[in-house]
Amino acid sequence: MQKEKILIVGKNGQLGSALMNLTKEKTCELGDIPKYLENFEIKGFSSKELDITKKEEVIKIIKKEQPKAVVNCAAYTNVDGCEDDVDTAFLVNALGPRNLAIAAEEVKAKLIHISTDYVFDGEEEKKRVEFDLINPKSIYGKSKALGEEYVKNFCSRFFILRTAWLYGENGNNFVKTIVKVAREKGELKVVDDQIGSPTNVLDLSFVILKLLETEEYGIYHCSGNKQCSWYDFAVLIVKHFGVDARVFPCSTEEFKRKAKRPKFSVLENLMLKLTIGDYFRDWEDALISFAKKNKNIF
Ligand SMILES: NC(=O)c1ccc[n+]([C@@H]2O[C@H](COP(=O)([O-])OP(=O)(O)OC[C@H]3O[C@@H](n4cnc5c(N)ncnc54)[C@H](OP(=O)(O)O)[C@@H]3O)[C@@H](O)[C@H]2O)c1
Repeated sequence: MQKEKILIVGKNGQLGSALMNLTKEKTCELGDIPKYLENFEIKGFSSKELDITKKEEVIKIIKKEQPKAVVNCAAYTNVDGCEDDVDTAFLVNALGPRNLAIAAEEVKAKLIHISTDYVFDGEEEKKRVEFDLINPKSIYGKSKALGEEYVKNFCSRFFILRTAWLYGENGNNFVKTIVKVAREKGELKVVDDQIGSPTNVLDLSFVILKLLETEEYGIYHCSGNKQCSWYDFAVLIVKHFGVDARVFPCSTEEFKRKAKRPKFSVLENLMLKLTIGDYFRDWEDALISFAKKNKNIF
């Protein structure tokens, strides 16, 4: 008998690839992989295989595959790049999820869409919960906020997962950059006045697989527990990767970037706690296990 399908869109990104890999495992550091997955065929798509900005193509492929669920890991994630290329930001981050939402609804599939802490302005020193009002300040944040809106409006079986400060084995991320610069230069400056919660892609992938088997639709905050500044994060990256380097704090003012970043962007995983449980580890514990696995790879 043919198995039912789960589609993973954006399979080559840092989240997409971690999620693809996790579906092949039986267990991981966070617990056993849910058994229901054995009854499903997992099919991943790169941007070449499925371009989410092309509505007719998206609908055609999803109708052909008839999946039970679609996970959208695809996005235009270059935050400063979005300021220069507004069209691409809205095409990929807003119209892309809209197309997936319309297609998922047509085949009655669940849709898990990934969003970001950057939908908040981060101007108040207050942890953000799912019912707080959003107020994005950057093009990236605005395009992701519109993507959320479309997903909510066009798909009835939606999960929107807002994550933050994501890192994993594949793709570019802060952890890799810090390890590389620290090894090459021996010292570096990192901003200490932006606060957030680093998130290991493994934790997020595990939660995606847990949520997928439920009908607990809605918006979820999904980030590592506890908070830190980018500087604190960098200090512990250098320590846990065993790099001999000195890290110095600096201010956002000193380290000018094109896009405005939230100053305080800590998410509270409230809806997870109230539904399936909050599986996210404290960010430092998740970093330690990531460093152990990747010390000799990076
Ligand atoms: N990275 C972070 O710190 C962070 C923080 C908060 C939220 N998020 C959100 O988390 C999710 C995953 O992020 P990530 O870091 O894993 O992203 P990533 O590594 O940048 O990967 C994004 C993927 O999107 C795919 N993609 C781009 N345009 C596409 C299109 N038109 N059609 C289909 N696929 C397309 C790319 O596919 P190809 O490689 O095949 O071209 C790429 O593999 C995103 O929704 C992002 O907004 C990320």
